[in-house]
Amino acid sequence: MAGQGTPRKRRACCPAKPKQNKTGAMARRVIDLADEAQTARLAARIAAAARTRDTIALSGPLGSGKTSFARAFIRSLGNGDEDVPSPTFTLVQTYEFPGRPTVWHFDLYRLEAADEIYELGIEEAWADGICLIEWPERIAALLPRDRLDIALAAGEQPQQRRATVTGPARWDAVLDG
Ligand SMILES: Nc1ncnc2c1ncn2[C@@H]1O[C@H](COP(=O)(O)OP(=O)(O)OP(=O)(O)O)[C@@H](O)[C@H]1O
Ligand SMILES: [Mg+2]
Repeated sequence: MAGQGTPRKRRACCPAKPKQNKTGAMARRVIDLADEAQTARLAARIAAAARTRDTIALSGPLGSGKTSFARAFIRSLGNGDEDVPSPTFTLVQTYEFPGRPTVWHFDLYRLEAADEIYELGIEEAWADGICLIEWPERIAALLPRDRLDIALAAGEQPQQRRATVTGPARWDAVLDG
């Protein structure tokens, strides 16, 4: 007879809960972007649905389009002609739009240690802003679990990109739109 404490016995008396992480079901899409205008349209759709405390992690190699995505995201919330420099050296830029949470645009490529992120105001950003983070790998262990991940990769043609987008289920409808 199997003794108490074997996996078989435990399963019989205490059925395991269905596997689900804290954020519940996830949305996942692989989206081919034919050109920069399509990247901008995806960014605008995500911007329209973004709300306070959202983090959007933009990963991908140099030149994959992280800043282009962030710029289109920010401009879609404004007049469309906002100056949106790459925060390569400042590491963060913020943008205010009436009636909207502040948008914090981080580029962490030059961050030397993950905890330097606190000097850049990340706690305020996470408390009541929307965060766009380029090079999120630099603070991997600190990222919120309910973030939207957008991984950009090259396509077959120079103007093409492939975006792999993963996040909480509420993004499903946005990504299908
Ligand atoms: N479909 C596309 N989506 C986004 N950018 C595109 C696309 N096609 C061409 N590009 C071009 O690719 C370049 C992307 O540069 P961008 O600065 O956004 O990259 P990045 O990922 O932010 O790089 P870095 O890691 O240096 O910050 C721009 O010159 C942009 O015009
Ligand atoms: Mg960039």
